Amino acid sequence: MGQRKGLLRTSIARKNLMAATGLFIIFFLIIHLLGNLILIIPDGYFPIEFWGNVANNHDMYNAYSHFLVHFWPITLIAWALYAAIIAHIIDAVLITLQNNKAKGEQYQMTDYSTSTWYSRNMGLLGTVIGLFLFIHMAQFWLQYKVLGTEHDLHKLVVETFKQWWVILIYEIGIIALGFHLVHGIESAHRSLGFYPDKTIRIIKKLAYCVGIGLAVLYAIIPIVLYFK
Ligand code: HEM
Repeated sequence: MGQRKGLLRTSIARKNLMAATGLFIIFFLIIHLLGNLILIIPDGYFPIEFWGNVANNHDMYNAYSHFLVHFWPITLIAWALYAAIIAHIIDAVLITLQNNKAKGEQYQMTDYSTSTWYSRNMGLLGTVIGLFLFIHMAQFWLQYKVLGTEHDLHKLVVETFKQWWVILIYEIGIIALGFHLVHGIESAHRSLGFYPDKTIRIIKKLAYCVGIGLAVLYAIIPIVLYFK
């Protein structure tokens, strides 16, 4: 009995950690999107003087990236983000192993009529996002932030998105991200226990808007840059 209680508590703690790290990553995704939308603003829409130069798309994006790397509070948040991503992945693996073990121990009837295909495939979606992220970090983060081999980030990003296979990888990764977010936001709400019965309908709509909204806006960026 005591062991069961311990297991239950561990399982709740894992789900809470999953929810908290997931919400933090969503916060990053919103900020990251806003920064990267600069890439697709047409040059004619920068009528302001920007740090002494008439701003254009290229200067504005590079000034934004330079600020991210050289402003120390942002560096701290970036380290918290890396920790959150690693914790989210490890936690997902542990929860999956635990669920598989529980399924093996007792016979369970799964009612597929009430669940969506993406809620049943969160692990698969997460793996696709993980592969996408690996490629994404190698292309930009590693070159710009870690190795420092490329100083003109705007040029690097624009040139990278001139290859059709890159666009394909990004669109697949972003579609997986959208569905992962829709179910993730909904279950984070359940895991953290914010009055599930009263608010679940609102949360479902919110999850749909945030997940699909972020995915659509992210998906537009590589396509616009490819045809620009
Ligand atoms: C398609 C639009 C996207 C563009 C143009 C883009 C661009 C970039 C660039 C240029 C960097 C390196 C500079 C920096 O650290 O900010 C970066 C870093 C990063 N990107 Fe993206 N990104 C996109 C989508 C995504 C998506 C969908 C995710 C998540 C699934 C993501 C996750 C990250 C992470 C975690 C970092 C490292 C952040 C840091 O070190 O602070 N990005 N991205």
